[in-house]
Amino acid sequence: MTANERDAPLPVVILISGGGSNLQAIIDATRAGRLPIEIRAVISNRPDAGGLARAERAGIPTHVLDHTRFEGREAFDRALAELIDHFQPALVVLAGFMRILTPEFVEHYRGRMLNIHPSLLPDFQGLDTHRRALEAGAREHGASVHFVTPELDGGPVVVRAVVPVLEDDTPERLAARVLEQEHRIYPEAIGLFAQGRLKLEGDTALLDGEPIPQRSRQFP
Ligand code: GRF
Repeated sequence: MTANERDAPLPVVILISGGGSNLQAIIDATRAGRLPIEIRAVISNRPDAGGLARAERAGIPTHVLDHTRFEGREAFDRALAELIDHFQPALVVLAGFMRILTPEFVEHYRGRMLNIHPSLLPDFQGLDTHRRALEAGAREHGASVHFVTPELDGGPVVVRAVVPVLEDDTPERLAARVLEQEHRIYPEAIGLFAQGRLKLEGDTALLDGEPIPQRSRQFP
């Protein structure tokens, strides 16, 4: 690695499907000089994703790749990978990208794709995590940033935030407190990756060369 490469901001592509509040947190951290990355593009699979306007306001190129216009998951994921690779990112960031990805796609970005999930993984993979956590009687809940591997929401966690569940919580109130933490830990995790401190080796996430401890499942 040359001195230039070491100092250059990490090229990143961010994928969204929705409002993009996590995208905004990443944009804000970058602008504040807290995150040494260059967001080369924001790509949405939904033309109406609110996050597109956030990117445009920040002067980041945006692209829409509407999955409903493709014949099947494989064709969409191939086109998506082609579009992403055009920007030559060192890291792909899934920020509320609500698509199940093909194994080929995941493999292609192995070790260089992160996702954020609104639960303490491995608990509550999939959708509707806040309601499920309340129904299960969880005392704590939270959010996890993880490397993406073929198992949906199953890759090793790199940073997590724990949020206590309150007596009178509703899914909405809990979700709002978790989202606040997402906005803190996603830039933090991306920053660690950009500094070269975070790696995926096999199925193990390493921070500064040491395996990152994983939680065991507490709810079936
Ligand atoms: C977040 O809760 C994220 O964890 C989940 O989808 C939501 C996206 O929110 N995967 P936003 O689009 O970043 O506001």
